[in-house]
Amino acid sequence: MGKPMIVANEVRKSFGKHEVLKGVSFEIEEGKVGVVMGPSGCGKSTLLRILIGADRPDSGEVFLDGEEITRMDEEQLNKVRLKFGMLFQGSALLNSMTVAENVSLPIRQHTPLPPETIDIMVKLKLEMVGLRNAESLLPAEISGGMKKRVSLARAIALDPKIVFYDEPSAGLDPVMVAVIDALVMDLRDKIKVTSLVVTHEMTSAFRIADHMVMLHEGTVLSSGPPEEIRKSDNGILQQFIKGEADGPIPLKVAGSDYEKAILQEE
Ligand SMILES: Nc1ncnc2c1ncn2[C@@H]1O[C@H](COP(=O)(O)OP(=O)(O)O)[C@@H](O)[C@H]1O
Ligand SMILES: [Mg+2]
Repeated sequence: MGKPMIVANEVRKSFGKHEVLKGVSFEIEEGKVGVVMGPSGCGKSTLLRILIGADRPDSGEVFLDGEEITRMDEEQLNKVRLKFGMLFQGSALLNSMTVAENVSLPIRQHTPLPPETIDIMVKLKLEMVGLRNAESLLPAEISGGMKKRVSLARAIALDPKIVFYDEPSAGLDPVMVAVIDALVMDLRDKIKVTSLVVTHEMTSAFRIADHMVMLHEGTVLSSGPPEEIRKSDNGILQQFIKGEADGPIPLKVAGSDYEKAILQEE
């Protein structure tokens, strides 16, 4: 067992009367890729916001690199935030800045390094995501997949130990999804980054995961290595993995958020 890098312990969160997370627990070891999967509306983004300290749970604990963060004040949180990067669902680039300027932002904000050093760091990060030649372009001049990669370069600008991703493959074509997946695995293999990826894309999840957490209706349906998840005889899990249109989920949770989410998507 490696050192636990991301730990959720009995995390609960309600919005009004709506209990979104009902005691979520799991651990991701250092240098591994953890994937949180689950249908739309099951609480993935809510969980992610709690894991990065952007929102607080009603109860439960979150440990990042051994530090409990849910009861930290902003000042303490800002120190912890230097240890991780975050790739948001949109690419969240500043349109008036070049690719290089976007990537340099966190370095300029958080370090007193001189421009020449920052320039070298930015070039290295862009090299890592395969965009060395795009540094002087503006976000409007590059594709969606390239924007995602620039955001990733920015997320790793300060050499974080952990990178969080919210639906990194949303809106990308399958080739670009594979490129982003390869980058996630590269960060693990080359610089031992621990990742937590939230997704509802099965193909991508099974390609990158060392550890999978299946969320369903705000609880962990299953948590373990992908081989185990694939073999599970849990009906809901199998239905979700295989993407079957018909199966135990709608029957079992009729009137649930999941059903509402499906109806909304249709
Ligand atoms: N700030 C909020 N206020 C009220 N309800 C929220 C808020 N954030 C999320 N929810 C609700 O929590 C549920 C889970 O949302 P979310 O975590 O975004 O799901 P997912 O990312 O899995 O699609 C949804 O029913 C959503 O409407
Ligand atoms: Mg979401």
